[in-house]
Amino acid sequence: MKYTTKTDNAYVAGKLALRRIALDGKTSARVLDCYSGDGLMWGTLKAEGACKIDLTRIEVKKTAKGVYLQGDNLKFMAGMDLSAFDVIDLDAYGAPIEQLDMVMASAFRGWVVVTYITNILGGRNKRLFAEFGMDDRIVKTCPSVLSHYAEAAIFNFLQRRGVDRVHLFAPEGPQNKGFVKLYFTFRK
Ligand SMILES: C[S@@+](CC[C@H](N)C(=O)[O-])C[C@H]1O[C@@H](n2cnc3c(N)ncnc32)[C@H](O)[C@@H]1O
Repeated sequence: MKYTTKTDNAYVAGKLALRRIALDGKTSARVLDCYSGDGLMWGTLKAEGACKIDLTRIEVKKTAKGVYLQGDNLKFMAGMDLSAFDVIDLDAYGAPIEQLDMVMASAFRGWVVVTYITNILGGRNKRLFAEFGMDDRIVKTCPSVLSHYAEAAIFNFLQRRGVDRVHLFAPEGPQNKGFVKLYFTFRK
């Protein structure tokens, strides 16, 4: 059994609203979009014109629209000065824990926007759950239990890194059965 729903931009309105929060009333912002896809989110916000957006896009696919750095975001991010940005966007299909960890450990100061999605057969990021007090034995013998703690584990991960407030959008409904879908932004 496998859950494999990959939708580039479900919940467009809610996701755009989070990014408007991250722009924080600025008239200009340097944005690093690490999971850029075809660039719908930041393309839409650029077109709105309320904020001049200097956008750097990363996307692993070779066939996405527009201009972007093509390849794995972790490799690009490791070579960048993340403090040169005002907003970092991690709009993953899954759980961008390594990317989030890199951002939190960096000199970056600004807003981070995250999409965090796991399903009942996923969510096995060892480090995330180890920090939550669930050791390897639980991860190995009963991995599906982890999804029940996914929300608490990700916010524990952030809290341990000094985050005390997030703007969260967590849509519910029958189409999300079996998934944890969290869309959020916070200021680092
Ligand atoms: C949810 S979509 C992003 C949609 C995008 N934010 C937009 O506004 O249209 C996730 C994208 O991340 C890309 N992706 C997945 N893993 C990646 C990685 N390690 N590095 C770079 N891009 C990645 C996928 O190919 C996909 O296009």
